[in-house]
Amino acid sequence: MTLAAEQTQSATDELKALLGDRVSTNTTVRDTHGKDESWHHPHRPDAVVFPNTTEEVSEVVKICAKHKLPVVAYGTGTCLEGNVIPTSGGIVVDLMNMDQVLRVNAEDLDCTVQARVTRKQLNEYIRDQGLFFPIDPGADASLGGMAATRASGTNAVRYGTMRENVLALTVVLADGRIIKTSKRARKSAAGYDLTRIFVGSEGTLGIITAVTLRLYGIPEAMASAVCSFDTLAGAVDTVIQTIQLGIPVARIELLDDLEMDAVNKFSKLDYPVKDTLFLEFHGTEAGVKEQAETVQEIAAENGGGDFKWATKAEDRNKLWAARHDVTYASKALRPGCDIWATDVCVPISRLAECILETKKDLADSFLMAPLVGHVGDGNFHLGFLIDRDDPKELEEAERINDRLVMRALAMEGTCTGEHGIGLGKMKFMTAEHGEGVSVMRAIKKALDPDNIMNPGKIFTV
Ligand code: LAC
Ligand code: ZN
Repeated sequence: MTLAAEQTQSATDELKALLGDRVSTNTTVRDTHGKDESWHHPHRPDAVVFPNTTEEVSEVVKICAKHKLPVVAYGTGTCLEGNVIPTSGGIVVDLMNMDQVLRVNAEDLDCTVQARVTRKQLNEYIRDQGLFFPIDPGADASLGGMAATRASGTNAVRYGTMRENVLALTVVLADGRIIKTSKRARKSAAGYDLTRIFVGSEGTLGIITAVTLRLYGIPEAMASAVCSFDTLAGAVDTVIQTIQLGIPVARIELLDDLEMDAVNKFSKLDYPVKDTLFLEFHGTEAGVKEQAETVQEIAAENGGGDFKWATKAEDRNKLWAARHDVTYASKALRPGCDIWATDVCVPISRLAECILETKKDLADSFLMAPLVGHVGDGNFHLGFLIDRDDPKELEEAERINDRLVMRALAMEGTCTGEHGIGLGKMKFMTAEHGEGVSVMRAIKKALDPDNIMNPGKIFTV
């Protein structure tokens, strides 16, 4: 046996002594934990463990630290940039047993959940108390994973992203220490902001085991609408003007004609196959009416058709479920394909330019790539439908993606608004952050000197 294989064997034996049959070396289980929903190639871990508590996670990490084995935390595996693929093997820590809502403080509008509670699960749990949690990436992701990737979604334009909505985290560090990054106060000036160092750290600094979140009262009135446009520019200009006027839209999402075709087919809807905005307004009855009227006027001036309203909860849910399923809808346009989902975000004033220049690149390409975006934030995605084993297709997706990212950076935007760096965006870190990357490396080295926490992600050490 090689030294590495011996280390892995001893670690697995120690993990089995700790967790018994909650350690798996079964090939199928390992394969399930070797991939995410992206095009990035899978990699099989050496073992998968299923701890029940933060203390058990800590003991697992201590064993891995002793043997210098990679540790990768796993929630729902729904990420889109290879963020959880254990590219160096090692131990995957599947948090599936840590799925309890620990505490809801309705009077303070916050709650604390174990890391594997999903966003939908939390919303079911708190709905009866008149509360909701707005952050909604496409997938029903775990809240720990969402904190780890600094996720957002369709409501971020009104409610912010995980950056704004995480109040505190419980984290197991690379040496097994357990810390709580903050109390529950809405604000604090007490020292370094550890919460925000871990939000978006993608498991490279520690494993998030519990999350304290802000909650919101369910608004008195909510109305959703769909509006088709004659031109893509008209749809994007409507968004820009709406945001610049300070209209507090809850959601404003763009789907191009190709994406609408995908959504119609996948979710059995019959919207016009045109560039389209999905909108939602939250507030009092009067507030919603006023916001909606203003946006309708803006849309009409930009070539938008009549708003098609969904006000009943059932209809709104159907509309947003269709929106949330775009990744699967897009893939269904080309059965058996892989999806390369890009994700840039630019200052809102540059959004039209960024989208239109990108569409020109697509018009000249042989690849199909529907466009969807949380455009109120200046954030949009292309979903390249590729065969990841065809080098020509990969090369073309990479070419357009590189141009898109460099365009966004030139506009003072970012290479990822919400999907994170994972494997897919590593090569852009220096272009985006310059010397800042060396500061991130210094933090990584201080907290994880042996580079065992999700190694090979975000940047090389
Ligand atoms: C979405 C994913 C692709 O917006 O981020 O549905
Ligand atoms: Zn998105």
